[in-house]
Amino acid sequence: MRDLEISNQELSDIAEEALGLAKSYWASLEGRRAYPSTTGEDTAELFSRPWLENGRGREILQDFKSIAEHARPGTGRFFGYVVGSGEPIGALGELLAAVLNQNVTSWRSAPAATSIERAVVGWLAEAVGCAGFTGSLCGGGSMANLMALAMAREAKLPANETGVQPCVVYASEQVHMSIPKAVALLGIGRKICA
Ligand SMILES: Cc1ncc(COP(=O)(O)O)c(C=O)c1O
Repeated sequence: MRDLEISNQELSDIAEEALGLAKSYWASLEGRRAYPSTTGEDTAELFSRPWLENGRGREILQDFKSIAEHARPGTGRFFGYVVGSGEPIGALGELLAAVLNQNVTSWRSAPAATSIERAVVGWLAEAVGCAGFTGSLCGGGSMANLMALAMAREAKLPANETGVQPCVVYASEQVHMSIPKAVALLGIGRKICA
């Protein structure tokens, strides 16, 4: 057997162990602090390690416990900012999606996933009064803001064919840090016009 190969039995055991860790974590959520008691030094000491040529094998899974001790748990008790719910059923869905590991670039590459994306975007569009609109799902808020600004710019000062035209983005001082990042990535220029 080659080094990178793993038997069905071993894979099954590892999957059980990983799921066991997830289940214990979910069961412990209500008892966890809203924010972990940790410092920059603590986390640097725990997680800045040399890269090991031969890896660490299965025991690496146990790191989940110390990572969880130094992570913000997904409960309803954190009000610092808006956070994702970490919904367990969603997490299981993510696991299954990762098992299929599709490239959702086009129908050709991922027939089922592309059709599901179209259906879900359709539902979302309908929910916000934009029935019939199309779009793509993205991985989070930063990417969503980048896409939104790109689309807004394309609607008003098209850049796709001939490049960026000078334009201004209005935003409050309190705007999320992903907005200036998106503005920079879009080549609009981040200099603030007061
Ligand atoms: C308003 C807003 N935009 C963007 C983001 C960034 O989201 P993500 O971390 O998913 O890229 C957040 C969350 O931090 C947010 O609250």
